Amino acid sequence: MAQLTGKVAIVTGGATGLGGGIADKLAADGARVLIVDIDESGANSRAATILDNGGAASAMVGDVSTEEVAKAMVDRVVDEFGRLDILVQNAYGVIGLQDGSALETTVESWHKGMSLLVMAHFLGAKHAVPAMQASGPPEDYDPGPWEGHGLRHGDPPPREIGRIVNISSVHGLLQAAGTMVYETGKAAVNGLTRQMAIDFGPLGITVNAIAPGHMVTENLEKLWKDVANEEGFHLEELQYPVRRTGTPHDIGNAVSFLCSEEAAFITGVVLPVDGGLSIQLQENIVLELKNYIQENPGLKTFFDGGFGTGDRR
Ligand SMILES: NC(=O)c1ccc[n+]([C@@H]2O[C@H](COP(=O)([O-])OP(=O)(O)OC[C@H]3O[C@@H](n4cnc5c(N)ncnc54)[C@H](O)[C@@H]3O)[C@@H](O)[C@H]2O)c1
Repeated sequence: MAQLTGKVAIVTGGATGLGGGIADKLAADGARVLIVDIDESGANSRAATILDNGGAASAMVGDVSTEEVAKAMVDRVVDEFGRLDILVQNAYGVIGLQDGSALETTVESWHKGMSLLVMAHFLGAKHAVPAMQASGPPEDYDPGPWEGHGLRHGDPPPREIGRIVNISSVHGLLQAAGTMVYETGKAAVNGLTRQMAIDFGPLGITVNAIAPGHMVTENLEKLWKDVANEEGFHLEELQYPVRRTGTPHDIGNAVSFLCSEEAAFITGVVLPVDGGLSIQLQENIVLELKNYIQENPGLKTFFDGGFGTGDRR
């Protein structure tokens, strides 16, 4: 039996990118999945692909930074699939957000960014947790063979009720120049994850975050193709100890593991899924890459399209 058989999941921003990879993997592992996204055709087509592959999925249109949608997605998943076990909070993409340092960022951009990066996570949990509690553990839940101390005993609080996985970023662990709203928002997601892990652990719900490195989604693939070249992409890869960037599958795999029963004792963790990017001593990297950069003066990265704002000359 697949590891998530019987479980029901919500994946926000599941139409494309990392959310798409997460929805695919949870469904392949047996979960029934509600995709919630502002992109109606993308969400419908992702759900259709999952159905074609023999999984169970459905799509709902909505902006998860509003409480109305946070409530509606939980009502919908319970109506349609009868329960809720897993909430993956992944949606991001703020149209018209003017990010920069504190000098450039507007108050409006701050509120817009924080609404989706941070408040959506609080709203999602606020409405999902009571539904997870009402659902209880899956019918066939088996606590495993161990019978001694180390398992809850006496008058135990609930076990294996639910899983929340928040998609953070390496940008929540380390800072990049000129994107104050994003960096601050992701750091806040890490704090919120630990807070919720403490608050919801006694309810039988684990809460973890994943901090992806550079994951080449459909959108980033297009950006690399449009503005960069092979030499530039190789410069990106060379910064990773595993010598490659990530894919949506890498994130789907990590999320599925955190949602499995094997991960029952893991909570409050911010798990980097970044090929080792964030464990390196930063100052060595550029110095080590000096020869490669000098040998490839025509290299172009996606920053050449105006993505990055930091220029350290
Ligand atoms: N791709 C990366 O390299 C990378 C790295 C680190 C962290 N992340 C994080 O992973 C998550 C997904 O990023 P991605 O690169 O897959 O982005 P993406 O733009 O490819 O996909 C984001 C999805 O979220 C949806 N969305 C946007 N705003 C929404 C809203 N208000 N309500 C509902 N849905 C909404 C979009 O329509 C889209 O389907 C984000 O939280 C991002 O910060 C991505």
